[in-house]
Amino acid sequence: MSQDQITSLLQEDRLFYPPRDFQEQAHIRSLEQYRALYARSLEDPEGFWAEMASALHWFRRWDRVLQWDPPQAQWFLGGQTNLCYNCVDRHLQSWRRNKAALIWEGEPGEERVLTYQDLYREVSRFANVLRSLGVGKGDRVAIYMPLVPEAVVAMLACARIGAVHSVVFGGFSSEALRDRVNDAGARLIVTADGGWRRGRIVPLKDYVDEALRRGAPTVEHVVVLRRTHQEVSWEPGRDHWWDELMAAASASCPAEPLDSEHPLFILYTSGTTGKPKGVVHTTGGYMVYTATTARYVFDLREEDTYWCTADIGWITGHSYVVYGILANGATSLIYEGAPDWPDPGRFWSIVEKYRVSIFYTAPTAIRAFIRWGEAYPRRYDLSSLRLLGTVGEPINPEAWMWYYRVIGGGRCPIVDTWWQTETGGIMISPLPGATPLVPGSCTLPFFGIEADVVDREGRSLPPNTGGFLVIRRPWPGMMRTIYGDEARYRRQYWEEIPGLYFSGDGARRDERGYFWVMGRVDDVINTSGHRLGTMEIESALVSHAAVAEAAVVGRPDPVVGTAIVAFVVLRPGADPSPKLKEALREHVAQQIGPIARPQEIIFTDGLPKTRSGKIMRRLLRQLASGEERLGDMTTLESAEVIERLRAQMGSEEEE
Ligand code: WTA
Repeated sequence: MSQDQITSLLQEDRLFYPPRDFQEQAHIRSLEQYRALYARSLEDPEGFWAEMASALHWFRRWDRVLQWDPPQAQWFLGGQTNLCYNCVDRHLQSWRRNKAALIWEGEPGEERVLTYQDLYREVSRFANVLRSLGVGKGDRVAIYMPLVPEAVVAMLACARIGAVHSVVFGGFSSEALRDRVNDAGARLIVTADGGWRRGRIVPLKDYVDEALRRGAPTVEHVVVLRRTHQEVSWEPGRDHWWDELMAAASASCPAEPLDSEHPLFILYTSGTTGKPKGVVHTTGGYMVYTATTARYVFDLREEDTYWCTADIGWITGHSYVVYGILANGATSLIYEGAPDWPDPGRFWSIVEKYRVSIFYTAPTAIRAFIRWGEAYPRRYDLSSLRLLGTVGEPINPEAWMWYYRVIGGGRCPIVDTWWQTETGGIMISPLPGATPLVPGSCTLPFFGIEADVVDREGRSLPPNTGGFLVIRRPWPGMMRTIYGDEARYRRQYWEEIPGLYFSGDGARRDERGYFWVMGRVDDVINTSGHRLGTMEIESALVSHAAVAEAAVVGRPDPVVGTAIVAFVVLRPGADPSPKLKEALREHVAQQIGPIARPQEIIFTDGLPKTRSGKIMRRLLRQLASGEERLGDMTTLESAEVIERLRAQMGSEEEE
């Protein structure tokens, strides 16, 4: 981490106000209303959060809203609740009983709808299944499944009996699965014979078998859902079919009252070192925070059909496919497969078919759609959409504008939501009926969140000065620890900038007070003494008509300190000539300034990404500087992309 300031030269002054009809019906209808509530949430946080918590069911009301022994927070102390009860049982007492809780579409095209009543029955039965296999309160359960309703059922069933789930994304390798299972000490794995992805079967059960062969001594049972129906190997006594266990299970399983600080789940996320961190979230605070943010940020209304395209293997899937959405009694749509299967119109066909009203996805997906062309979305009726959202990385203004215009028809606000696995829920985001939008900015902090941009000592920086994005006080959804490594939790999040929660992101605030996240601090390049966010250079590149996608990294350089190297994916039809390289360098110089001109531009037909779609900059940095070892590639979807790039760069060097 460096203490220098981050120079930010990206200028963006387009402003988009909430459409009047949206505003009139929104939960929060003006910037003034937001500001008043925000001020109250900081002046009287305990009163504010107690009020939010009161909207949910508690078996026993808390004695204290917050106990803060930095960096350990306990929320709703003495309270007892159950998140599964709040996501399911609570809705059975009203007409919502027969409302769709989950709408599912499989990649091959199957459809299923589970009402809240259906969900209650399935979850209760699976909770009994877990108990029958010896799983109790506090035991860890690994979930390694395709995106099917049973994956959500498994999560909720754990929450119902107080078991701690650890969902491992179905795209991870057996090696990654084994590491996570062992770190958590899981007693049971819930999986499927396979899942569908781009028309092919992902053989999940084979991967589980492989992980167990390599050694996972704590695992006693494996529950296998029949999904793809191919042959799988079987170990009697250890392996069980989901449907056989469910057929024998009772549908009565009262939700267990749990202490507010009872652990709810562990979710692994990559850090700066190779070993993944098991981020721990607990029951009461996470529940209140995800339910409250979901309601206000997505402006949830009873009749909405909400679709978040994230997999449940990520925090976005936990908080805004499952918990925050179902806690509000909303309808959550899930889709198993790839966005471009059988063609790049698939997402839009789903929006049209189910009349989706709220759509939440990642910038990387939006950029892929831009590349595939406007013709696909144009083929479908997207008029049911009323709100769009993004998460996961900074969205470049050009991609924002495309999303706004082509998907939203110029009619839908976009909530650019900044948050992290560690924060549990959305931290900085527009409220769609209140906040004027500026493309590329995640705008203002959510209620109760005291966000700031500071220098290394924790001093607030003036507007338009880049620095470190921190949170100055605890919030209900914050992580509680790293599983089995409290010291790392303290060191990494609370000691880098003493006494403040450090996100690892660089940011600046503009004159309006809007936040501009510039990416991880290690994605910042210092060239000739100027600090530049890689994202800003990428934005400039993508604003050129020939460019579909770009990733910018630094390469050590004896003259300028760090040279800017850009990996560029061109749009179809563009000619990857030396002339175009020169034009792109000039374009960046014009957009940002000569100091941002890339020293080198490398054309590539794809960028290496993690399974969650984040560009693997560390790999690109190593490639750019000619380092041989490429480190851990277990999460790399596009290993071939790297191989091709490496071969290409080797041959270019020889030229
Ligand atoms: C980045 C995903 C800019 C950021 C919920 C953060 C963003 C990391 C945004 C967390 C956004 C997420 N604008 N950057 N709207 N949202 N990020 O843990 O660098 O998978 O630290 O959580 O994604 O990624 P994670």
